[in-house]
Amino acid sequence: MNDKLLRAGLGVAALTLLSPLLAACSEDEPKLVVYNAQHEPLLKELAPEFTEETGIEVELRNGKDLEMSNQIVAEGKASPADVFLTENSPAMSQVEAAGLFDELPAGILDVIPEQYRPVSGLWTGFVARSTVLVYNTEQVQEADLPASLLDLAKPEWKDRISFSPTGADFQAIVAAVLELEGEEATKAWLEGIKANGKVYDGNNLVLEAVDSGEVEVGIVYHYYWERDRKENGDVSDQSAQHYFTGGDPGAFVSVSGAGILKSSDMKAEARKFVEFLVEKKGQQVLADSYALEYPLNPEVELDGVTKPFSELQPPQVNVSDLDAETVVDLMTEVGFL
Ligand SMILES: [Fe+2]
Repeated sequence: MNDKLLRAGLGVAALTLLSPLLAACSEDEPKLVVYNAQHEPLLKELAPEFTEETGIEVELRNGKDLEMSNQIVAEGKASPADVFLTENSPAMSQVEAAGLFDELPAGILDVIPEQYRPVSGLWTGFVARSTVLVYNTEQVQEADLPASLLDLAKPEWKDRISFSPTGADFQAIVAAVLELEGEEATKAWLEGIKANGKVYDGNNLVLEAVDSGEVEVGIVYHYYWERDRKENGDVSDQSAQHYFTGGDPGAFVSVSGAGILKSSDMKAEARKFVEFLVEKKGQQVLADSYALEYPLNPEVELDGVTKPFSELQPPQVNVSDLDAETVVDLMTEVGFL
């Protein structure tokens, strides 16, 4: 084989090796990068529906609320994130306070009731979760449950309560207590429930512990019990949920938030995504999913849960004022974190 032929041969070989890569590159549209701290399976149901409708591919990067908000703040203008979704809103407030969100168009904001989005218009809620007290039905009667979540700090509840303090869900509830009751009262409440409570690493474990009778009551959100009930009742057949009323901190409704990063280089696509999330079609996808979280678009109703959204009696809390950092400080001081 002469030199020329050898080179030609190598050239063909190199091209053959490269061609699948080249093909992949040319087909590769830029993907919308969504930093997702909402439950991963929920977005795995929603994102393909969005892609089908718009042709826009989505790349989900999953993590926890504060882990991802801290990451976005650290990345600043260089963040690859186009959209940020959280499980609870305190992480949204953190990114909002850092000045990293782009204003949402009125067309998106108008779809969601005012109390479930900040006045700034820099992000919006898209689903809601209600705080509940899940209780073991053999050990306690609903009539014997306290009138307020705050009462669980009293000595009579020693060794009878449980929760998952490391999770963003519980921390959002603490943020609501802080907003409604102030720092001193919140610290005292945290000390009380620390003295009384059993802690678990995750709300599903709280649910299991209550159902098995390991502990009498647990502070969680409504969808844990509701989902189990719908699936098979394995860890919800010996328990029920109590909804606090009259604007008690225990009736706090937490919202999952969605916002678009100022630094996004795909703003038009990002807007389409958030629009899909709040408009009827996307909200119906959420409502029909396994999640059993409340859609916030009033045109869409959640079926198959014990309490309709309209019957909840949440306290009035400005979603922008929920202060994740003070919550972490207080919980660290008290020894939860
Ligand atoms: Fe959760």
